[in-house]
Amino acid sequence: MRRKTTVGEVDAEVLAYTAGQDRLLDAALVEADCFGTAAHVTMLSRMPLRPPPVAPADAQRVIAELRNILEDSTAGKFAITLEDQDVHLAIERRLTEKLGDLGKRVHVCRSRNDQVAVDLRLFAKTRLLEAASAASELARVLVAFAKKHAKVPMVGRTHMQPAMPSSVGLWASAWAEGLLDDLALLTAAYDLNNQCPLGSAASYGVPMPIDRQLVSDLLGFAKPVHNVLHANQGRGKMESVILSALGQVLLTLSRMAQDLILFSMPEFGYFRLSAEFTTGSSIMPQKRNPDVLELLRAKAAKVLAHANLVAEIVRAAPSGYNRDLQETKAPFMEGFDLAISSLRILAPLVEGLEVDGDALRRAFGPEVFATDRALELVAKGMPFRDAYHEVKANLDKLTGQSPDEALAAKRHLGAPMGLDFDALDARAKEAGNWAGRELEQYESHRDQLLGLKRGKTRGAV
Ligand code: ARG
Repeated sequence: MRRKTTVGEVDAEVLAYTAGQDRLLDAALVEADCFGTAAHVTMLSRMPLRPPPVAPADAQRVIAELRNILEDSTAGKFAITLEDQDVHLAIERRLTEKLGDLGKRVHVCRSRNDQVAVDLRLFAKTRLLEAASAASELARVLVAFAKKHAKVPMVGRTHMQPAMPSSVGLWASAWAEGLLDDLALLTAAYDLNNQCPLGSAASYGVPMPIDRQLVSDLLGFAKPVHNVLHANQGRGKMESVILSALGQVLLTLSRMAQDLILFSMPEFGYFRLSAEFTTGSSIMPQKRNPDVLELLRAKAAKVLAHANLVAEIVRAAPSGYNRDLQETKAPFMEGFDLAISSLRILAPLVEGLEVDGDALRRAFGPEVFATDRALELVAKGMPFRDAYHEVKANLDKLTGQSPDEALAAKRHLGAPMGLDFDALDARAKEAGNWAGRELEQYESHRDQLLGLKRGKTRGAV
């Protein structure tokens, strides 16, 4: 059986196979596609041709209809049909239905490859900013938690065995600083993504005087991608870069989740998860399971696998556009969902974490002070290796020291008593402010170009 589409007839099974999940996934790209199309028609209307491919008044009619599409989409009333194949042709169909021949003029000097590339970059922009602001928020929560429990002793472990005196403050702010490093990766990914690919058309540009700088400026990108072939085939690679950065975030979160699962077990009892973040069992009445943290570990595995999946899809693709790229869309979008939801759920979980100082202190066996003892001997003049052997030969005679005193002695830079929580917090805050400013900038460009009322937030246009 053959089905009619906007761009020709196609076998029904081939259509279903090639359209894949696009109909559903592209619902998330309606805003970006309208925004990109508004920039495109504006540029067409200013082209130095007499007459321009789209007259200025017509560009405004297209933009008015794009606003209607956005409104319908927000109300759940804009459908992408199988025959449309994707959001790009769905919008073209609607513009043609409403505006007749004008709708058919819109696609001059661009291709769907162009559209999907710009849509995904706009989509990624806002999602990366959501991820960055959630990461900043979590880092700040961790720093506040660390500061509050800065003086609570905690056994530091290596190989999971008791090692040296440490603190809850050191433990918690270590994850915060890890997240700040991950934020630098998110920012780098953001900067690479913040280049406008429009004007590539099928991959090779067009024999008409399009203004790529103008569309880039209208859309609020930092600059256009220079080479039009790179603009097009940079798709997939960009997703891979972004998913890798998100993967690093999840790598940090997953290890922290693993510690929390372990240290909140009754056998440790260092921390207690608040009831909202645990779930019960259908058979065992006593259970309070850390399902949130377990799922977080699994979701981290998925994001890392998605990063790998996307790299694998692109790995053998030859130059120019290839349809393989379409298959990167689902893991890309899911990667954002997984990362952002994980960042968001951990912040209140950490805020609600109870710390049991007694349990933490009880865990200090005398062996935890062995290295401190050796260093005391060194302070009296003994060579370190001799002191090491001296303590090692008398391990059974080690007596417990006060964990609190041991902590008080660790004052150098970055040690339990030498942590600059305020500097960490300032870094996290700055990242959050940056994300807020960038999002504001995105929204103001979008609202100005589409003629939307200012002050309305994304998703509520
Ligand atoms: N849905 C397609 C994708 O995600 C849009 C581009 C289709 N381009 C093409 N030349 N068939 O890649």
